[in-house]
Amino acid sequence: MDNFPQKISAAVLVSGGGTNLQALIDGQAAGKLPSVQLALVISNRTGAYALERARQADIPALTITRRANGGTQEGFEAALLNALKNHHIQLIVLAGFLSILSEDFIRRYKNRILNIHPSLIPAFCGKGFYGLKVHEAALERGVKVTGATVHLVNEIPDGGRILLQKAVEVLPNDTPETLQRRVMEQAEWTLLPQATQLVAQQLLEEQHD
Ligand code: GRF
Repeated sequence: MDNFPQKISAAVLVSGGGTNLQALIDGQAAGKLPSVQLALVISNRTGAYALERARQADIPALTITRRANGGTQEGFEAALLNALKNHHIQLIVLAGFLSILSEDFIRRYKNRILNIHPSLIPAFCGKGFYGLKVHEAALERGVKVTGATVHLVNEIPDGGRILLQKAVEVLPNDTPETLQRRVMEQAEWTLLPQATQLVAQQLLEEQHD
Protein backbone atom coordinates (compact mmCIF):
# COMPACT_ATOMS: atom_id res chain seq x y z
CA MET A 1 0.00 0.00 0.00
CA ASP A 2 1.30 3.45 -0.80
CA ASN A 3 0.23 6.75 0.68
CA PHE A 4 -0.27 8.62 -2.55
CA PRO A 5 -3.61 10.40 -2.88
CA GLN A 6 -5.95 8.48 -5.16
CA LYS A 7 -8.02 11.46 -6.25
CA ILE A 8 -7.34 14.83 -7.81
CA SER A 9 -9.18 17.77 -6.22
CA ALA A 10 -11.11 19.62 -8.88
CA ALA A 11 -12.87 22.98 -8.92
CA VAL A 12 -15.67 23.61 -11.40
CA LEU A 13 -16.02 27.23 -12.55
CA VAL A 14 -19.47 28.25 -13.75
CA SER A 15 -21.52 31.28 -14.74
CA GLY A 16 -25.01 29.96 -15.45
CA GLY A 17 -27.38 27.04 -15.28
CA GLY A 18 -24.75 24.44 -14.63
CA THR A 19 -26.01 21.48 -16.64
CA ASN A 20 -22.40 20.51 -17.35
CA LEU A 21 -21.66 20.75 -13.63
CA GLN A 22 -24.67 18.46 -13.10
CA ALA A 23 -23.20 15.98 -15.58
CA LEU A 24 -20.01 15.92 -13.49
CA ILE A 25 -21.99 15.48 -10.26
CA ASP A 26 -24.04 12.66 -11.80
CA GLY A 27 -20.89 11.10 -13.27
CA GLN A 28 -19.28 11.10 -9.85
CA ALA A 29 -22.38 9.52 -8.26
CA ALA A 30 -22.35 6.83 -10.96
CA GLY A 31 -18.70 5.99 -10.26
CA LYS A 32 -17.48 7.33 -13.61
CA LEU A 33 -14.98 9.76 -12.08
CA PRO A 34 -12.93 7.52 -9.81
CA SER A 35 -9.86 9.80 -9.94
CA VAL A 36 -11.74 13.05 -9.23
CA GLN A 37 -12.93 14.75 -6.08
CA LEU A 38 -15.35 17.57 -6.95
CA ALA A 39 -14.09 19.82 -4.16
CA LEU A 40 -15.32 23.29 -5.04
CA VAL A 41 -17.71 25.17 -7.32
CA ILE A 42 -17.08 28.84 -8.06
CA SER A 43 -19.52 31.12 -9.88
CA ASN A 44 -18.58 34.55 -11.17
CA ARG A 45 -22.28 35.43 -11.28
CA THR A 46 -24.45 36.00 -8.24
CA GLY A 47 -27.46 33.69 -8.14
CA ALA A 48 -26.32 31.28 -10.87
CA TYR A 49 -28.44 28.12 -10.66
CA ALA A 50 -25.22 26.09 -10.79
CA LEU A 51 -24.62 27.18 -7.17
CA GLU A 52 -27.87 25.52 -6.13
CA ARG A 53 -26.80 22.32 -7.89
CA ALA A 54 -23.54 22.38 -5.94
CA ARG A 55 -25.37 22.86 -2.63
CA GLN A 56 -27.70 19.97 -3.38
CA ALA A 57 -24.67 17.78 -4.04
CA ASP A 58 -22.93 18.97 -0.85
CA ILE A 59 -20.04 20.56 -2.74
CA PRO A 60 -18.64 23.79 -1.25
CA ALA A 61 -19.79 26.66 -3.45
CA LEU A 62 -18.56 30.25 -3.65
CA THR A 63 -19.53 33.34 -5.61
CA ILE A 64 -16.53 35.42 -6.66
CA THR A 65 -17.40 38.41 -8.81
CA ARG A 66 -15.24 41.03 -10.44
CA ARG A 67 -17.44 43.73 -8.98
CA ALA A 68 -16.80 42.59 -5.40
CA ASN A 69 -13.05 42.41 -6.04
CA GLY A 70 -12.12 45.91 -7.08
CA GLY A 71 -13.83 45.66 -10.47
CA THR A 72 -10.57 44.55 -12.09
CA GLN A 73 -9.37 41.29 -13.64
CA GLU A 74 -6.36 41.32 -11.28
CA GLY A 75 -8.58 41.65 -8.20
CA PHE A 76 -10.95 38.98 -9.49
CA GLU A 77 -8.19 36.50 -10.29
CA ALA A 78 -6.41 37.14 -6.98
CA ALA A 79 -9.64 36.20 -5.19
CA LEU A 80 -10.04 33.13 -7.40
CA LEU A 81 -6.46 31.99 -6.77
CA ASN A 82 -6.92 32.47 -3.07
CA ALA A 83 -10.03 30.28 -3.01
CA LEU A 84 -8.38 27.61 -5.17
CA LYS A 85 -5.37 27.53 -2.87
CA ASN A 86 -7.51 27.35 0.28
CA HIS A 87 -9.29 24.31 -1.13
CA HIS A 88 -6.07 22.65 -2.39
CA ILE A 89 -7.38 22.56 -5.94
CA GLN A 90 -5.24 20.69 -8.48
CA LEU A 91 -7.49 20.75 -11.54
CA ILE A 92 -9.90 23.40 -12.87
CA VAL A 93 -12.89 22.59 -15.06
CA LEU A 94 -14.49 25.49 -16.91
CA ALA A 95 -18.11 24.48 -17.39
CA GLY A 96 -19.94 27.35 -19.01
CA PHE A 97 -17.65 29.89 -17.35
CA LEU A 98 -18.08 33.16 -19.22
CA SER A 99 -14.92 34.99 -18.23
CA ILE A 100 -11.60 34.82 -20.05
CA LEU A 101 -8.69 34.12 -17.72
CA SER A 102 -5.40 35.99 -18.03
CA GLU A 103 -2.18 34.43 -19.31
CA ASP A 104 -0.70 34.80 -15.86
CA PHE A 105 -3.54 32.83 -14.28
CA ILE A 106 -3.39 30.12 -16.94
CA ARG A 107 0.37 29.72 -16.49
CA ARG A 108 -0.13 28.93 -12.83
CA TYR A 109 -2.34 25.97 -13.76
CA LYS A 110 -0.55 24.91 -16.92
CA ASN A 111 -2.21 21.81 -18.42
CA ARG A 112 -4.58 21.74 -15.46
CA ILE A 113 -7.49 23.75 -16.87
CA LEU A 114 -10.15 22.14 -19.06
CA ASN A 115 -12.86 23.86 -21.04
CA ILE A 116 -15.93 22.60 -22.86
CA HIS A 117 -16.83 24.38 -26.08
CA PRO A 118 -20.07 23.66 -27.98
CA SER A 119 -18.63 23.22 -31.49
CA LEU A 120 -16.07 21.09 -33.28
CA ILE A 121 -12.98 23.29 -32.82
CA PRO A 122 -11.54 24.93 -34.97
CA ALA A 123 -15.03 25.78 -36.29
CA PHE A 124 -17.01 28.51 -34.53
CA CYS A 125 -14.59 29.20 -31.72
CA GLY A 126 -12.38 31.92 -30.29
CA LYS A 127 -13.25 35.38 -29.09
CA GLY A 128 -16.96 36.23 -29.23
CA PHE A 129 -18.10 32.62 -29.75
CA TYR A 130 -19.90 31.61 -26.59
CA GLY A 131 -23.30 30.27 -25.60
CA LEU A 132 -26.03 30.57 -28.24
CA LYS A 133 -23.79 32.64 -30.53
CA VAL A 134 -21.87 29.47 -31.43
CA HIS A 135 -25.03 27.70 -32.56
CA GLU A 136 -26.35 30.77 -34.39
CA ALA A 137 -23.09 30.90 -36.37
CA ALA A 138 -23.24 27.18 -37.17
CA LEU A 139 -26.83 27.49 -38.46
CA GLU A 140 -25.98 30.61 -40.45
CA ARG A 141 -23.07 28.83 -42.13
CA GLY A 142 -25.32 25.90 -42.89
CA VAL A 143 -23.11 23.12 -41.53
CA LYS A 144 -24.77 19.71 -41.36
CA VAL A 145 -22.63 18.46 -38.51
CA THR A 146 -21.51 20.29 -35.39
CA GLY A 147 -20.60 18.99 -31.93
CA ALA A 148 -18.58 19.71 -28.82
CA THR A 149 -14.93 19.82 -27.85
CA VAL A 150 -13.12 19.51 -24.53
CA HIS A 151 -9.69 21.09 -24.64
CA LEU A 152 -6.89 22.24 -22.38
CA VAL A 153 -6.84 25.98 -21.82
CA ASN A 154 -3.87 28.01 -22.97
CA GLU A 155 -3.43 31.73 -23.67
CA ILE A 156 -5.38 31.54 -26.97
CA PRO A 157 -9.19 31.47 -26.48
CA ASP A 158 -10.34 27.92 -27.40
CA GLY A 159 -6.80 27.29 -28.70
CA GLY A 160 -5.37 24.68 -26.31
CA ARG A 161 -4.77 21.00 -27.00
CA ILE A 162 -7.94 19.13 -27.96
CA LEU A 163 -8.73 16.24 -25.63
CA LEU A 164 -12.07 14.88 -26.84
CA GLN A 165 -14.59 15.74 -29.53
CA LYS A 166 -17.99 14.39 -30.50
CA ALA A 167 -20.03 15.16 -33.62
CA VAL A 168 -23.75 15.96 -33.52
CA GLU A 169 -26.11 16.16 -36.48
CA VAL A 170 -27.77 19.48 -37.39
CA LEU A 171 -31.44 18.99 -38.34
CA PRO A 172 -33.32 21.00 -41.01
CA ASN A 173 -35.63 22.84 -38.61
CA ASP A 174 -33.09 23.55 -35.90
CA THR A 175 -33.10 26.84 -34.04
CA PRO A 176 -30.05 27.91 -32.02
CA GLU A 177 -31.93 26.69 -28.93
CA THR A 178 -32.81 23.22 -30.25
CA LEU A 179 -29.28 22.76 -31.58
CA GLN A 180 -27.74 23.88 -28.28
CA ARG A 181 -29.87 21.37 -26.41
CA ARG A 182 -28.96 18.48 -28.76
CA VAL A 183 -25.25 19.30 -28.56
CA MET A 184 -25.49 19.25 -24.76
CA GLU A 185 -27.47 16.01 -24.60
CA GLN A 186 -25.52 14.11 -27.25
CA ALA A 187 -22.03 15.47 -26.66
CA GLU A 188 -21.24 17.88 -23.83
CA TRP A 189 -22.70 15.94 -20.90
CA THR A 190 -20.77 12.79 -21.77
CA LEU A 191 -17.54 14.40 -22.99
CA LEU A 192 -16.88 16.64 -19.98
CA PRO A 193 -16.95 13.89 -17.32
CA GLN A 194 -14.88 11.62 -19.58
CA ALA A 195 -12.22 14.25 -20.22
CA THR A 196 -12.10 15.28 -16.56
CA GLN A 197 -11.49 11.69 -15.49
CA LEU A 198 -8.86 11.29 -18.22
CA VAL A 199 -6.84 14.33 -17.15
CA ALA A 200 -7.17 13.52 -13.43
CA GLN A 201 -5.93 9.98 -14.05
CA GLN A 202 -2.93 11.34 -15.98
CA LEU A 203 -2.14 13.77 -13.16
CA LEU A 204 -2.27 10.95 -10.62
CA GLU A 205 0.05 8.84 -12.76
CA GLU A 206 2.52 11.74 -13.01
CA GLN A 207 2.44 12.12 -9.22
CA HIS A 208 3.27 8.46 -8.76
CA ASP A 209 6.20 8.47 -11.23
C1 GRF B 1 -22.58 25.06 -22.64
O1 GRF B 1 -23.10 25.01 -23.92
C2 GRF B 1 -21.08 25.15 -22.71
O2 GRF B 1 -20.50 24.41 -23.72
C3 GRF B 1 -20.93 26.61 -22.98
O3 GRF B 1 -21.91 27.23 -22.16
C4 GRF B 1 -22.98 26.34 -21.92
C5 GRF B 1 -23.09 26.17 -20.42
O4 GRF B 1 -24.20 25.50 -20.02
N1 GRF B 1 -19.57 27.03 -22.82
P1 GRF B 1 -24.36 25.01 -18.51
O5 GRF B 1 -24.19 26.22 -17.61
O6 GRF B 1 -23.35 23.94 -18.23
O7 GRF B 1 -25.77 24.49 -18.45
